Amino acid sequence: GSGDERELRAPICCILGHVDAGKTKLLDCIRGTRVQEGEAGGITQHIGATYLPVENIRERTSLKSEVTIKVPGLLVIDTPGHESFSKMRSRGVSLCDIALVVVDITRGLEKQTIESLHLLKRHNVRFIVALNKVDRLYGWKSCPNTPILEALKNQSDDVRSEYKWRLTEVITQFKENGFNTAPYYKNKKMKRVFNIVPTSAKSDSGEGVPDLLMLLVRWVPEIMIDKLAFNNSVECTILEVSGDKDLGTTINVVLINGALHQGDQVIVCTKQGPVTTIIRDLLTPQPMKELKAKGVYKHHKEVRAAHGVKIVAPGLQHAMAGTSLIVVKPGDDLRQAETAAMQE
Ligand code: GTP
Ligand code: NA
Ligand code: MG
Repeated sequence: GSGDERELRAPICCILGHVDAGKTKLLDCIRGTRVQEGEAGGITQHIGATYLPVENIRERTSLKSEVTIKVPGLLVIDTPGHESFSKMRSRGVSLCDIALVVVDITRGLEKQTIESLHLLKRHNVRFIVALNKVDRLYGWKSCPNTPILEALKNQSDDVRSEYKWRLTEVITQFKENGFNTAPYYKNKKMKRVFNIVPTSAKSDSGEGVPDLLMLLVRWVPEIMIDKLAFNNSVECTILEVSGDKDLGTTINVVLINGALHQGDQVIVCTKQGPVTTIIRDLLTPQPMKELKAKGVYKHHKEVRAAHGVKIVAPGLQHAMAGTSLIVVKPGDDLRQAETAAMQE
């Protein structure tokens, strides 16, 4: 369309699925990190945010430079699959543009998979299915980081037939829950039929991961170009309040749209009412690193959406996760802005 010259923001992708489907592992595989191995009990207990710049995605998918990607990157939100964290899943869904539902191919749809599907339906969010752990198919030969069709060609007839019946089973389960799905390489009606991408998140496998990234940075912007237009009015959600021995209390936020600046006057909500403060510093982790991981941060005078950002400012101790951060613009009535902030 005519939107080609508009500045687009990074799409926000929320990863959902039953506990141990491989959500964090898949993200580790994409980032080249080992966050999952460090988690207590192998269970994710927080909501995470990772920015993947488009250059890193190109590298990861061996994409030729002629292939255009219209978005500057991808912001990925990892959520816990354990049943007690439904609030975090709901928070992730309410701020994302697209979801990635991870399903273990050896287990099919499970309780929190189905819970996640209903949540997505309620919020009217489209999704891609990662049918994960294909390396668990009996006799799978690993073809590191290759596109899935190429990897399947290299398998024995037995592996391919196990793949086929398990895929068919999963498609039937989706159908029973009211969703039409198809493997993306056969999907001729991508607007109505949800894509399935078979993947392996094992670090020495990674089959299907290039396909998944391609869909996220090329197909997703195509179907929601208007939604991804950069807009100057700030939309920003607090993910968590985090103490830091050097920085004091900070908040980790997802900047969904607009830009934040050092010196911006902002309002956060607390149980005691609105707190107005001034942004001292804006920090982002290294590209491809988790926002909440303690590490080396980059300092910014300005951060543009979409991004995961750590905000340093006085008075953030009682800010509430899940609420919006409001920017007070010059000329705004502060009292009115504070009242509005508390009503969000
Ligand atoms: P929660 O965050 O706790 O809901 O789990 P999760 O969905 O993030 O799963 P996680 O990444 O913790 O992976 C669970 C287990 O499955 C770990 O032991 C992983 O190593 C393993 N795993 C994940 N993906 C794959 C895969 O593609 N192949 C194989 N073989 N194992 C996998
Ligand atoms: Na896990
Ligand atoms: Mg996890």
